[in-house]
Amino acid sequence: MRTQVAIVGAGPAGLLLGQLLYRHGIDNVIVERRSADYVLGRIRAGVLEQGMVELLHQAGVGARVDAEGIPHDGFEMALGERRVRVDLAALTGGKRVTVYGQTEVTRDLMAARREAGLTTLYEAEEVALHGIESESPHLECRYNGEWMRLECDYIAGCDGFHGVSRQSIPATKLTTFERDYPFGWLGLLADTPPVHHELIYARHERGFALCSMRSAERSRYYLQVPAGERVEAWSDDRFWDELSRRIPREVAAQLVTGPSLEKSIAPLHSFVAEPMQHGRLFLAGDAAHIVPPTGAKGLNLAASDVSVLHRLFAAIYHQGRTDLIPRYSPTCLRRVWKAERFSWWMTRHLHDFGQPLDFDERVRQAEFDYSLGSHAGLTTIAENYVGLPYETLE
Ligand code: APR
Ligand code: PHB
Repeated sequence: MRTQVAIVGAGPAGLLLGQLLYRHGIDNVIVERRSADYVLGRIRAGVLEQGMVELLHQAGVGARVDAEGIPHDGFEMALGERRVRVDLAALTGGKRVTVYGQTEVTRDLMAARREAGLTTLYEAEEVALHGIESESPHLECRYNGEWMRLECDYIAGCDGFHGVSRQSIPATKLTTFERDYPFGWLGLLADTPPVHHELIYARHERGFALCSMRSAERSRYYLQVPAGERVEAWSDDRFWDELSRRIPREVAAQLVTGPSLEKSIAPLHSFVAEPMQHGRLFLAGDAAHIVPPTGAKGLNLAASDVSVLHRLFAAIYHQGRTDLIPRYSPTCLRRVWKAERFSWWMTRHLHDFGQPLDFDERVRQAEFDYSLGSHAGLTTIAENYVGLPYETLE
């Protein structure tokens, strides 16, 4: 089999890239390790920056996010009983975010891909990248029990943090930067009305909590739990009880509980691999970088990488601009590092790190208190939360 761009991974990054390339008339094939149902079964983030919504429109899949996504002009930070609203629209000249689940983004992109008749090889096993330093790279995998070879001009590694693409770059060519956090997030999804019409990020001495949502009838909540915690230790009752203790009393009084549809624990991690391109392989999304979910940036960063990458491929195929290839990585990384900083900052200020109440801890508390009490501080939070501008290649 032969294509122009071989894409590894059918998560949001791979599917969105595939759709945008298709709109540019660039042929692409996606090779995905899991089944489509498995990919759709994963419950992930749910806050889209305006730039990502615009990109979905460019990809021809903007209708449902417009109809069913919930625009949010602000969100709240709670510190014990104190509530501070971050008025996104007022602080950023009218920008906002849209609450729409990653699962739904994936569903829309899969449907568009099917309609366009593009090839996706689901349940491809032992995917391997070859010749990325040559002019004619290819992928190999086992598909339907048979070995197959996919020839291409370029490979897009959109296969997430545990994928094979980043590992195919020689270790000597890659520098990685990372930070682990001593806790995870326990998430619960329930068909109950959200406790509040906006998201609430709550800092509390018992640990962080987040009140989020997927729709007017479906809530998503998270609790900070120690690293290594087992989900079996958390009955629904224990979850609801702990959540009500960590959010302001007047909010807890509105909480509607119900049976969980899903409960899982995700570790928190910051990670960046540089550069994001080697030879004819380009990394995008979680394959190149991970952020803790506190700033809602993971999915949005995948989208901004793809925004750069699809424009690069269009320039290569339509204008012969292979000279732009070295610009891909530095262009993406400028925005990636700013989102890494913001996600780290939000994580650092909203979670309990079990720190003794020493000088550093008091300064940390003062910094957060300052940010929430100052127009300049709130503007910084708002600008980052709605999403910094997309970088351009030239
Ligand atoms: N071969 C083929 N496919 C693979 C391989 C492999 N060796 N390894 C992983 N994959 C697939 C995964 O099964 C998954 O479907 O690659 C896909 C990667 O998708 P995501 O992990 O969703 O990553 P990405 O598309 O970059 O999306 C960005 O935003 O909300 C955050 O972390 C969250 O997934 C989210 C991300
Ligand atoms: C979510 O709804 O899943 C969500 C929202 C905001 C975050 C992280 C996750 O910062």
